[in-house]
Amino acid sequence: MAPALIWISLLGGLLEGLGGTEAQQTTLHPLVGRVFVHTLDHESFLQRPEHVFPVPAPVPITYHAHLQGHPDLPRWLRYTQRSPYQPGFLYGTATPEDRGHQVIEVTAYNRDSFNTTQQMLVLLIGDPEGPLLPYQAEFLVRSHDVEEVLPSTPASHFLTALGGLWEPGELQLVNITSALDRGGRVPLPIEGRKEGVYIKVGSASPFSTCLKMVASPDSHARCAQGQPPLLSCYDTLAPHFRVDWCNVSLVDKSVPEPADEGPAPGGGILEHDPFFCPPTEATARDFLTDALVTLLVPLLVALLLTLLLAYVMCCRREGRLKRDLATSDIQMVHHCTIRGNTEELRQMASSREVPRPLSTLPMFSVHTGERLPPQVDSAQVPLILDQH
Ligand SMILES: *[C@@H]1O[C@H](CO)[C@@H](O)[C@H](O)[C@H]1NC(C)=O
Ligand SMILES: *[C@@H]1O[C@H](CO)[C@@H](O)[C@H](O)[C@H]1NC(C)=O
Ligand SMILES: *[C@@H]1O[C@H](CO)[C@@H](O)[C@H](O)[C@H]1NC(C)=O
Repeated sequence: MAPALIWISLLGGLLEGLGGTEAQQTTLHPLVGRVFVHTLDHESFLQRPEHVFPVPAPVPITYHAHLQGHPDLPRWLRYTQRSPYQPGFLYGTATPEDRGHQVIEVTAYNRDSFNTTQQMLVLLIGDPEGPLLPYQAEFLVRSHDVEEVLPSTPASHFLTALGGLWEPGELQLVNITSALDRGGRVPLPIEGRKEGVYIKVGSASPFSTCLKMVASPDSHARCAQGQPPLLSCYDTLAPHFRVDWCNVSLVDKSVPEPADEGPAPGGGILEHDPFFCPPTEATARDFLTDALVTLLVPLLVALLLTLLLAYVMCCRREGRLKRDLATSDIQMVHHCTIRGNTEELRQMASSREVPRPLSTLPMFSVHTGERLPPQVDSAQVPLILDQH
């Protein structure tokens, strides 16, 4: 039975291995500096017999995704799934260092049948076409969880609604991050409370005055005092997306930043002094004497103490002779007499003819104290007595 089981599991492993090599491959083209979202749909991982259920029952599936040959995802890619009954998402924004070719292995675990399926996602990360996006703004949307804005429909709704607050021009999603990843708290499980999500949008056209005002220091100061921010225009996102207008941040990269000219000397840097000569290399120091002192002094002290102890123990011992000499003669005589008498009594007792205690004898009756006649050697007693 057991070998058969092992064979079956070996065969299963082999088949699974074979399945792994011919895992479904999908090629995707994320762009540097643009949000990339890939939905891990249950349907694409399910191998259910077709046309069995007209409406397929929901199957709980969880996913594990990692960079091929590595235990985890690349730094720019994140994975999220709200529950096993909902699709998973791989999302993130590639940076220029990620340009090139990355292979993501996705394993789907069917939580009902314990079946696993594998898919390879080949990511060819390239540069986006079109104009740069020097004007970028980040919004904290409090009314949504990150999974709710990752699908393309809500994301495009957000961009369309935001278009009303921006100078005309194409808007692009630059980054989407769950507020939990940015220090947000998990909300209480109350209806309508969401984790919140940061959405970063970029555009080639400049910010509207309205956006600039919302992100101005005046507005932030009002927010810090608990007052509403300076929103001068109509909140076109309002009914659907609840944006925290106190947490809008704008990045304007259209003005090139002054190039770094090396570290500027700050307050802590000393003036150049022509007479200053830096200390030369430290001279070699001999630590032998230090080491010897450290070792020898305790050793010597220990030796001295040992000698002292030995002297006290061996030479200062009060011997028997000395003790006897110190004891008064009458006491010694007294002691010797008692001792002698005791010895004598002992000798007399051992030579007296006294019967041995009964209990030390081979056989006696506990109740009568009678001694039984010595047993016949049991080896010679016949087992069956002759009746005749
Ligand atoms: C996107 O946002 C995350 C979280 O704030 C950050 O770690 C990451 O660097 C951002 N990516 C880009 C390309 O800005
Ligand atoms: C499990 O997956 C294999 C292919 O990997 C498929 O042939 C089989 O039907 C699946 N079983 C179930 C219960 O889905
Ligand atoms: C909103 O921004 C303010 C300062 O701009 C910051 O102190 C606060 O933590 C932010 N809130 C969240 C939820 O990020």
